[in-house]
Amino acid sequence: PFDWYREMRANAPVRYDPTRRTWDVFRYEDVKRVLDDDGTFSVDPRRADDYVEPERAEETLIFETMLFTDPPSHGDLRGVVDDAFEPRALGDLEPRIRDLAGDLLERADALGGPDDELDVVDAFAYPLPVIVIAELLGIPPSDRDRFKTWSDTLVEATSADDGDETAEYHERQQQAQMEMATYFLEALEDRRESPRDDLLTQIATGELEDGSRLSQEEALGTCILLLIAGNITTTNLITNAIRCFVDDVDGDGDVLEELRDDERALRTALEEALRYRSPVQAMGRVATEDVTVGGEVIESGDRVIAWLGSANRDERQFDDADTFVPDRTPNQHLGFGHGTHYCLGAPLARLEANVAFEELLARTSSIDLVDVDLEPTRSSFVYGVESLPIRYER
Ligand code: HEM
Repeated sequence: PFDWYREMRANAPVRYDPTRRTWDVFRYEDVKRVLDDDGTFSVDPRRADDYVEPERAEETLIFETMLFTDPPSHGDLRGVVDDAFEPRALGDLEPRIRDLAGDLLERADALGGPDDELDVVDAFAYPLPVIVIAELLGIPPSDRDRFKTWSDTLVEATSADDGDETAEYHERQQQAQMEMATYFLEALEDRRESPRDDLLTQIATGELEDGSRLSQEEALGTCILLLIAGNITTTNLITNAIRCFVDDVDGDGDVLEELRDDERALRTALEEALRYRSPVQAMGRVATEDVTVGGEVIESGDRVIAWLGSANRDERQFDDADTFVPDRTPNQHLGFGHGTHYCLGAPLARLEANVAFEELLARTSSIDLVDVDLEPTRSSFVYGVESLPIRYER
């Protein structure tokens, strides 16, 4: 998409697309402004003039969560779970993430055979965040496979032109959604009766400002949100970062070598991967009043897409914006969004990616990509690849 972004930033930085009935915003300053001005730009899709109620009620569950709720209610919904995602709380989790990452790599290495090839997605980048969030929520290991299948089905998306497949896919989605909803409702009920030290308990019993608790729909929506917001996004941070470190660097320096045993350098390079190949490329908003952005008048009720992935390549904000610079500082990228809805899971995603690379680099002396022809993710809102085969030396 990056060539298209560049052209749009230059020629049509804020433009209306009549076929999608949507405004697209491409420049850094404008994207940031849209995200920051949460009074004028609502996250609630139901406020759009052309909003159509989906056929099935389950599809609106997610609208009951913080991601699609404006202030002041937003703070209430986020407040129920936010302390679990603070860096301090996550510190306790680090050794567990390290063990998991190490185990996954050892297992893949044992299966890899003499060629020492593995698919980063399957072996490592996909299972790690799913297991971590499942454990945080308090889902027992015996239920994990079911859980993984559901989350996988739910994030898949399909192109509009393959009619038969689309019907089948909808059915699968529906099935997965119902099974998962039933599972979570039972688990939440269970935690209300016998609280434990887990996130499900917090969601089931946590108090809001006025002393009330989340409604059944809000609680269920929150479980599903945490599951789908954090999984393939983190998977793709890890895979996109490997592509950046191995394939995107100019000159003949070995970035992996520089990142090994240098925590600070690794952290900085991961931020640059978030900028350069942002797992989430765009976020949607709805204008709640007439507003001028970049000289264009957006009318109340119009839908707006803020292109984070374009903002992160804006030459007005970043020197050498289209170059991957592993030691770039400062780096005020918008990969986790900005303002009120700034990613709740950012500290967790950073921790997981950091630990994942430390463990990977500790076990390898070199990494090469096997393929250059990579299949993009099937999910429409996530930027990355379906699989990433690598060849490595120990
Ligand atoms: C919000 C990206 C990982 C949970 C967001 C937003 C972005 C984002 C761009 C802003 C949405 C908006 O402005 O409308 C990412 C990326 C990730 C990641 C790139 C990985 C690299 C996670 C993880 C979790 C998570 C691991 C939780 C387990 C959330 C939640 C919100 C959110 C709950 C909504 C926050 C709110 O509305 O206040 N994320 N995310 N994310 N993210 Fe993440």
